[in-house]
Amino acid sequence: MNGASESRAPSPESRPLPVAVLVSGRGSNLGALIAAKEAGTLPIEFALVASDKADAPALRHAETHGIATLALDPKSHPSRLAFDDALFARVAESGAELVVLAGFMRVIDGAVVEAWRGRIINIHPSLLPKYRGLHTHRRAIAARDAEHGASMHFVTPELDGGPVIAQARIPIHAGDDEEALAGRLLTQEHRLIVACVDAIARGHVALRDGSVHWNGEAITEPLRLAADGNLRRA
Ligand code: GRF
Repeated sequence: MNGASESRAPSPESRPLPVAVLVSGRGSNLGALIAAKEAGTLPIEFALVASDKADAPALRHAETHGIATLALDPKSHPSRLAFDDALFARVAESGAELVVLAGFMRVIDGAVVEAWRGRIINIHPSLLPKYRGLHTHRRAIAARDAEHGASMHFVTPELDGGPVIAQARIPIHAGDDEEALAGRLLTQEHRLIVACVDAIARGHVALRDGSVHWNGEAITEPLRLAADGNLRRA
């Protein structure tokens, strides 16, 4: 990247950051972003909420909050790349400068991801690099891990493999089943996604030269979500 910034670094006084959120289902993480924005604490505006599933409850939630939505059917496109190109053309048209994957259950073509490098983030329910992919809660319980968590990371062509911005950690209790653990983690995901989008919108977090930068300094460990909802160095 020749030292160039891969992320927008707005000043806190600048206009709200236009954000597109991609969703496939329930949309509780989207709901957390909407709630924070409506509370006046998150300096973003929703440029678009888009989904690969026309019946996603997340889309209905966005509509009830007056947010522009788009449903695009992968089956009506000849290939994954054609779908991703069409979707991200609409995202670009919306004016979004940050794309948040919040339960978007598709792998995005590598070339499309590269074009948005530093401007596309994903929330994943594990302590990456552990448990990329699906069934993360089940796998953490089966491995008898003491801790589980969620990660917010910049998206790269490697699935769930991009630089991790921050993590929220929770203990795994004896007797936790997949549902109980997932439910407890979801509450933390909501806090984590808001904290990370906030940090990017305020210019505190950016991807530069392939590394996450926190207030201008490269970090070697993911930030931690603290009990007060702020991000801290590990
Ligand atoms: C969350 O667990 C998120 O980490 C994962 O998909 C789930 C989406 O939940 N990527 P919701 O649709 O935001 O409620």
